[in-house]
Amino acid sequence: MRESWANPAGGPAGGGVGGAVGAGSDLHLDLGGPGGLRACLMRALRDAVRTGRLAPGTRLPSSRSLAADLGVARNTVADAYAELVAEGWLTARQGSGTRVAPRAEPAAPTAPAGPPGARPTAPRRPPGPAAPARTPPRILHDLRSGRPDVSAFPRAAWLTSARRALTAAPSAALGYDDPRGRPELRRALAGYLSRARGVRADPERIVVCAGFARGLALLGEVLGTTVAVESYGLWIHRDLLTRAGARTVPLPVDDRGADVSALYTAGARAALLTPAHQYPTGVPLHPDRRTAAVDWARATGGVVLEDDYDGEFRYDRRPVGVLQDLDPERVVYLGTTSKSLAPGLRLGWMVVPEALLGPVLAVRRETAETCGVLDQLTLADFLASGAYDRHVRAMRLRYRRRRDQLVAALAEHAPAVRVTGIAAGLHAVLELPPGAEEPVLEAARRAGVALEGLARFRHPAAPEPGPGCSGPGRDALVVGYGTPPEHGFSPAVEALCAVLRGALG
Ligand SMILES: Cc1ncc(COP(=O)(O)O)c(C=O)c1O
Repeated sequence: MRESWANPAGGPAGGGVGGAVGAGSDLHLDLGGPGGLRACLMRALRDAVRTGRLAPGTRLPSSRSLAADLGVARNTVADAYAELVAEGWLTARQGSGTRVAPRAEPAAPTAPAGPPGARPTAPRRPPGPAAPARTPPRILHDLRSGRPDVSAFPRAAWLTSARRALTAAPSAALGYDDPRGRPELRRALAGYLSRARGVRADPERIVVCAGFARGLALLGEVLGTTVAVESYGLWIHRDLLTRAGARTVPLPVDDRGADVSALYTAGARAALLTPAHQYPTGVPLHPDRRTAAVDWARATGGVVLEDDYDGEFRYDRRPVGVLQDLDPERVVYLGTTSKSLAPGLRLGWMVVPEALLGPVLAVRRETAETCGVLDQLTLADFLASGAYDRHVRAMRLRYRRRRDQLVAALAEHAPAVRVTGIAAGLHAVLELPPGAEEPVLEAARRAGVALEGLARFRHPAAPEPGPGCSGPGRDALVVGYGTPPEHGFSPAVEALCAVLRGALG
């Protein structure tokens, strides 16, 4: 058996879809198995393409350099390339060398993938010339909630911050990180959170985590207890708590937010709340209930986990301040860049009460779970330079315009629909006539409009809402108006209105 990491010298770097393995990059080929060298080489290349190791468009080494690297005659490689071109695995064009043939991307998921952390969809099919052509159902318009317009990510400003941050960082910053995260980021966050959200934030009490979800999982592990959650919320968060060893019990939600009086009978030691903008119903927690939640924590030794996932995006009045301000020793404040910048960054933070800090950091040390320091340093610079504020302000205007457009379009084309929960955030709740949720979702699926129904968010142990209840109605849609790129928003609203017109008559 002969193995090789081809690393040919010279040859222009390839462009196109894939990278170039011929421009001083390594190409691992296992030439073992039956047959002569040419057959082995062809088999190894086919395998590399089939399994996706060599992506469509990738430029291969020249036959001369690969032959030199493998220690075989150049003709052996040239013949193998020629046969693979004839079979459709490779393409050869004058001036652009030999490349892996372009072919259809593996099939996209057949159903909307759901919000962050949604259950996995079917595995990706590796590319290969023999794969039958398939046209999966396509998402033409994405109106799922929980996502920002990632096409608006401030790439240039982020790059400026990344360059500046890395240039200024001492070498020591590239070593193993403090379990709380980089001090530069914690200082910048403390300043921003107290200024913009009213958080009582001491940099020593901030723990940087890979998004809200990892912070929640960590707290679930530390608390290991029964956690009361809002009866409507993200299933991924409930599942994370369960995985971490906590049990979740539902708290009723009505038009004043979570009914925190139920905490006394819920048998919970912690309560996960979205006080600024209940997710997904969109109501802010009533001031009386804010105080009552903190009173419960004080009286019972409990703790409130405050999920401030979209606190920056409030349109109709000044932002609702944070609950944590009422008692920083009884409330863990959690925030994220997933709405303000991009979920793919995986950067979030917690401001942790003194009593929980030790146990939280102990788990961080045991699990060695920290976030990449380059992104942390970049975010620190992004915050400190004012770029974060500028981006949030620009996006607030954009999302507010979209919200107004959505509300106006629904009033004109779907008057039977009542729109609620729109004072803040990136989503709206569309209350439907009784029994309409499933038919509307089915019509949306057929039209390629990705949408979620409210029922999906209900805690499995929560009772179904009865008619005339003051909470979320029985049938509703949760529509994310942040998700589409700017050019796709109007067509998405039109498609939604057409679906509603068709399904509701
Ligand atoms: C209610 C709620 N909390 C938190 C988050 C953010 O989660 P993460 O920071 O893990 O992306 C989301 C994102 O969709 C959310 O909907």
